[in-house]
Amino acid sequence: MKALVTGVAGFIGSSLATSLTDDGIDVVGLDCFTDYYAREVKEHNLAELRTRRSFSFIEAELASVDLGQLLHGVTHVYHLAAQAGVRKSWGADFAIYTRLNVDATQRLLEALKDRPIAKLVYASSSSVYGDGLPMPLREDQVLAPLSPYGVTKLAAEHLCHLYFANYGVPSVSLRFFTVYGPRQRPDMAFHRFIRAALAGQPITLYGDGAQTRDFTYIADIVRACRAAGDQGRPGAVYNIGGGHCVSVNDVLDLVERLTHRSLTIRREPSQKGDMRDTSADTSRARADLGFLPSTSLEAGLAAEVDWLSRVMAAGR
Ligand code: NAD
Ligand code: UGA
Repeated sequence: MKALVTGVAGFIGSSLATSLTDDGIDVVGLDCFTDYYAREVKEHNLAELRTRRSFSFIEAELASVDLGQLLHGVTHVYHLAAQAGVRKSWGADFAIYTRLNVDATQRLLEALKDRPIAKLVYASSSSVYGDGLPMPLREDQVLAPLSPYGVTKLAAEHLCHLYFANYGVPSVSLRFFTVYGPRQRPDMAFHRFIRAALAGQPITLYGDGAQTRDFTYIADIVRACRAAGDQGRPGAVYNIGGGHCVSVNDVLDLVERLTHRSLTIRREPSQKGDMRDTSADTSRARADLGFLPSTSLEAGLAAEVDWLSRVMAAGR
């Protein structure tokens, strides 16, 4: 087995590459350090990986890299590269989302269609669903994304399926539900809440805080990616959720308890594109992948608090 991980300097990509190389698997990692957040943060994600003999890193954009050369000998592709923020995908920024999420995926699929790879695992998103659906969300529900980001993630998911149906590319799409834990992106809620709590600064709460999420711990996501690479059914789509749906207000209480600080909350209107609630039906992933989330919200959040405390103590 030899793996290509796109978006390897990011939150999920770096965590997955660490797990793969821990098991002695050769990994080629690709990232172009998009400016969605600071390169320095991503360099820290990569630092330890770069010392591993089984890891090699290529700094390049999917749009222009020589894919033939990159894919030489690769058996498994984990495609995580994307512009990942929900709330910034309106307006002029949409062009970035179509380029990085749709065009880049299509280029990768074109390069894969003549190659005998074992699996392509695509990082899709709970943002493909939309509001007003029965909970928990099932993979076969009607999809009506609320954000431009969700539209691009769904377009790429459809492309993966098209290249499976027409060219036999063995793609598996995983719909991740709001991922958290060490290395979480700095624009995401838990990261912002914990950092503000530890620094004694106010947090911004969008809406009334009663919105709920099926928050999923990073180690559970990594396990799901690994299982999908090993035994995912080509052409299939799987929900990957953490198994605990809680409101943002409940998360704020937990952050106060774990950091021993009280939060100052600045309220802003709910953001366009934000889903009200997410909750994953993961029975398909359980049946095919043996996937069962195993990290409680309290333990996962404590691990993120611990990580961010160390990051901030180092002045970052
Ligand atoms: P991230 O921003 O930390 O990582 C993405 C990485 O991809 C970045 O390092 C970026 O520089 C790189 N990248 C983007 N476009 C590229 C390109 N064209 N060529 C090379 N590198 C490129 O994001 P993340 O939170 O780790 O998310 C990873 C994937 O999982 C994304 O596809 C995202 O849509 C999906 N996802 C994330 C979550 C979540 O809660 N974090 C939930 C659902 C889905
Ligand atoms: C997350 C990821 O950021 C997306 O990349 C991913 O595709 C998506 O999950 C998914 O599940 O598919 P989101 O659920 O918006 O998106 O994650 P958070 O940034 O953690 O936000 C959770 C909730 O907290 C949202 O309702 C948001 O409006 C709220 N929030 C966020 C705040 O109230 N304040 C903040 O400072 C940040």
